[in-house]
This record gives sequence, C-alpha cells and structure tokens, in this order.
Amino acid sequence: MHDERERFLIRYAAGFAPLTVARADGSWIETTDGRRILDFTSGQICSTVGHNHPRIVEAVQRSLDTVVHLNSWMLSEPVLALAERLVATLPEPLDKVIVLNTGSEANEVAFKLAKLHTGRFEVVGLTRSFHGLLAGATSVTFSMGHAGYGPLVPGAFALPAPYAYRCPIRHCDGTCDCACLEAGFELVEQQSVGALCALVAEPVLSAGGVIVPPEGYFRRARELCEERGMLLVMDEAQTGFGRLGAMFGFELEGVVPDILAVSKTLGGGVPVAATVTSTAIEEDCVAKGFLHVTSHVSDPLPSAAGLAVIDVIEEEGLVERARRQGEYLISRLQELQESHEQVGDVRGRGLLVGVELVEDRDGKAPADALGAAVTVECLRRGLSMNIVRSGQQANCFRIAPPLSVTLNEIDLAMEILDEALRSALESRERSRAGAA
Ligand SMILES: Cc1ncc(COP(=O)(O)O)c(C=O)c1O
Repeated sequence: MHDERERFLIRYAAGFAPLTVARADGSWIETTDGRRILDFTSGQICSTVGHNHPRIVEAVQRSLDTVVHLNSWMLSEPVLALAERLVATLPEPLDKVIVLNTGSEANEVAFKLAKLHTGRFEVVGLTRSFHGLLAGATSVTFSMGHAGYGPLVPGAFALPAPYAYRCPIRHCDGTCDCACLEAGFELVEQQSVGALCALVAEPVLSAGGVIVPPEGYFRRARELCEERGMLLVMDEAQTGFGRLGAMFGFELEGVVPDILAVSKTLGGGVPVAATVTSTAIEEDCVAKGFLHVTSHVSDPLPSAAGLAVIDVIEEEGLVERARRQGEYLISRLQELQESHEQVGDVRGRGLLVGVELVEDRDGKAPADALGAAVTVECLRRGLSMNIVRSGQQANCFRIAPPLSVTLNEIDLAMEILDEALRSALESRERSRAGAA
C-alpha cells in the first residue's frame, strides 16, 4: 500500500510504522490521532529514564539558554562535568573520556584507539553482533548490514556467539559451556595475519536476539585476549546505565574492558555517546597523533542531557529497579510460555529480555511470520514491540521498556501480548483451514 508520508523520505529500513507520533512521556507515546501506545522498546532502546523526562527537558532548555554548540577545541562546563561524572561512575583504569554522538561513532573511536595503541588492525566480533552501521563498526556487525556495500574494513573476524538455545557449533543445548569461544579463537588465529588488535563485544547481544553469555564467558575472553596482546572493547550502547540491573554490563563478571563505548542509554533520547579508556592508552595514542575531530565532538547540549540522565538513574534508583522489574517481567513471560507452545525461549537480564517464537518447542523452527503478525496485533492494541533480525532469522522479540516502567504497565503489556498471540494464531489457523 502506498504511504503518502514517504514522498520526501529515503526509506532507510524495512518501512515505517503506520502511525505518526505527536508526543511521548514516560513509557507512553501518543499519536497525532490521539492513540496512546505503551513503548516496550524505549524508542531505539535510548529512553531508559522514560520519554521526555523533565530533568532532560530542563537540561536541554538550560543549554538553549546558554550554549548549544562550540568549535571542537573549546570546552564547556557540561562537557567537563560529564567526563568527570563518567569517570567517577567507572572503575579504574577507565579515566579518559571523549564525548561523541552515536554508538557507531563511539565504536569507531574505540577501534582507532585500539589500532593506534597496539599497532595492529585485526578486530574480532561475535556472530549476531550489532555495533553500528558506519564502515568500521559494520565490519564487525555480523547480524546484518554487509550485503551490497562492497569491501568491508580488512581484518574483521567473527567468533561464534554463545547462543545456547541454538548452539552455533552444534555442541551444547540450553547451557553454553564456552566451547564456542575456544573454537572461535582457534579459527580466528588461523585466519589472522598476526595483527590481532581487539575483541569487541556487547555484554548481552541485544539486536542479535538477546543472547546472554554464560557466567565466566568474559573472564575467559579476557584471558584469551591477554594471551595474544589484544585489547577488550565493551560496547555498552544498550546495556550501559542500568538496563541489565547493574550500572554497566561488564560489572556482572568483574571484567573491566580496556576501552568502553557508551551511547544510546546515556542520552535518554538525545544523541550523546562517549568512548572511555585509560590514561596509559590515551597518552600513548596522543603521542602517536590520535585524531578524531567531528562537528559535534564535545558539544555542550548533548553533554548536559547525559549528565541529567546519570542524575536521574542515581536519584530514582533505576539500576535496582531494572533488576526487580526485569525479574517480574520474565516471570510474567514464563507464564505466557506455559500457555503458548510457540513461546520457545524466554531469556534476558534486568530489563533486556528476549522472547523467541517457534513453530513448536521440539523442532524450534523460527516462527518469523508469526512474530511479524504478533507485532502488528500488539501495535493495534496499543503496545509497541520489536522483533530483531539476525541473518535470515527474525523471530525474537527484544523487550526493553524504560527502566521506570511500572508493574501495572508490565501487566498491561503482558495482557496485550497474550491477546495478540491468540489473535495471530487464530487468524493463522483460519487461513490454513481456508487453504486446505
Ligand atoms: C550494541 C550497539 N552498538 C552500537 C550501536 C550503534 O549505535 P548508533 O545507531 O547510535 O550508531 C547499536 C545500535 O543499535 C547497538 O545496539
């Protein structure tokens, strides 16, 4: 069907939602025709403190009244304060910050620092990863985005993701024992030209289907990196600032990365990102001529928003809240799993939860069409849900409401999801019966 709204727009993904948004507040968005929709994707997983939080509005307003943007060599109070605040939130030796705008950019900067520091260029990522769609980040994004754009950055290698529900090396079933990590490093090593620079990983692989690595995975990954003189880069675009029930995902295993990239969840909807590393790496890179000047590096307005987000997370106890609400959400989804054969797996940490739809529990064939139909039925009933795609597979809901979500909102979402599943299954049965 032709969508008149597309007349002046480049269609950058798989199409637009059949609604136009007028405003957003907390866990809710409101359309121009007055419908209220519960947002269980936090926009693009950015609005962790809820849409349009008054503290962010106030911080942006203050910037509008004072200073929005500056030449990149001029610093302002919000940038200095954000850098200091980030360092205070992080463990040693992460004490040097560059303030940027997007998640892809934060990773690009992480790779530039890692390359300059090690003098090598090969970057290893995980299959089903998503690190952004700029060239360097795309090269180690293995869930999508490669076909059709010509050569990627040389030296990008993949490790099989610790996806226990569908083990990529057909080794375990349900519980990962990290054999994929050992086998993966062996493969990487044999392909390498001797220039292994860094491993980049999300603490939970979000866009790839909410894959939660097993306990010990990152400790072992860290050892494997150290044995080869590689740096560990953690990409906490989605997991940073509380979503997993910890301030940062890397804390869950006590493995501190050499370089940390944060973005989405730092700005609460305003484009701010940061790459953080140690003084030792920063000094070495600066001595080697590190360069990363962009139009919006160290901009005051996004920095002010980032500061407000960290304030809200601390003042409203959102880290602990994510843990509690997440446990409740998972328990409600497990109830749904008992009544629907098609809910194959429920997994996650804090308020980053995956629900994988299958044709049946034994065969586990991904139920992609059902997922698409349930998404439509949810939206019709006032719940925004998101299926993520990795390669050919698109059957996993990634559920990530704002950390401020209430138990009543979770109950309402579960009611809608249950109804949407029933309705999509009934209409599938009807069309199958009609075709028979
Ligand atoms: C883990 C991760 N890293 C990086 C990115 C890219 O961020 P951006 O879209 O802001 O460039 C994303 C976006 O979804 C992400 O999920």
